[in-house]
Amino acid sequence: MTPYVADPVYLNGQYLPLADAGISPLDRGFLYGDGVYEVIPVYSRQAFRIDEHLQRLQATLAGIHMTNPLAVDDWKTVIFKLINAAPWDDQSIYLQVTRGADNKRDHAFPSPPVAPTAFAFASPLVTTPAETRATGVAAITVPDLRWGRCDLKVISLLANVLARQQAVEAGCAEALLIRDGLLKEGAASNIFVVKDGVLLAPPKTQLMLPGITYDVILELAESRGQPLEIREIAETELRAADEVWMTSSTKEVLAITTLDGQPVGSGRPGPVGERMWQWYQDFKNTVMRKG
Ligand code: PDD
Repeated sequence: MTPYVADPVYLNGQYLPLADAGISPLDRGFLYGDGVYEVIPVYSRQAFRIDEHLQRLQATLAGIHMTNPLAVDDWKTVIFKLINAAPWDDQSIYLQVTRGADNKRDHAFPSPPVAPTAFAFASPLVTTPAETRATGVAAITVPDLRWGRCDLKVISLLANVLARQQAVEAGCAEALLIRDGLLKEGAASNIFVVKDGVLLAPPKTQLMLPGITYDVILELAESRGQPLEIREIAETELRAADEVWMTSSTKEVLAITTLDGQPVGSGRPGPVGERMWQWYQDFKNTVMRKG
């Protein structure tokens, strides 16, 4: 069986087998979910949009008042070493930084500060099978019970975990989060809607994660002349949509063809989403797989 996590992993300056990587049970990531993370797709051993992912990591660390334990170039060295040591050409790199382990449990930051915990590993990129892409996937809507800083990519993901589990128990691939009658995003993806040929994208606010894939989609729409409106999307518009798609670093662009048991539009992946998927593949192949 292919292992999910490649050896070695990176932990606090060391490269070591996963089995030998240990942290304190007092780590604030474990006690409080006090930390941040990134997921970076790797195609043909090249990290996709690595600068943007590292910028978002920096923004999230600043948002939780943490200093980045590594400079950008040092992160790149870690990432390249993990990629090169892993057996797969297409991978997913996971990075996590927590506020570290104090000698006691106290909600406030350790004073004086303790060393942060920095962890990273490579795993195989799990892509959507062509058969699933051809039919699209089912999703449910759930109330968005998360906190007010969903723009930060933090490891405290319990509300997302519960929403996704609710989807899985309903036989669905994703849960779409609705707050105050508006579509925000998915439990682990951004959501786009198409109505009458126009692509609708929820705006970047503190209530949505600014997806790296989301930015690529907006760039592709703008450069290819796809009509686009970046604005809040009402739940009623979501339910009347011609197409709904989810996007993320691991899902790329994936049509949602059933929502709360009802067909979305024709109930099949629509033409705008199909085009966008193709543009995304072309873009990826041009920037990542050349040579
Ligand atoms: N999730 N919104 C949420 C809540 C997410 O968790 C993610 C990604 C996205 C899409 O972001 P990006 O395009 O940068 O992957 C949007 C990752 C993949 C995860 O938690 O595993």
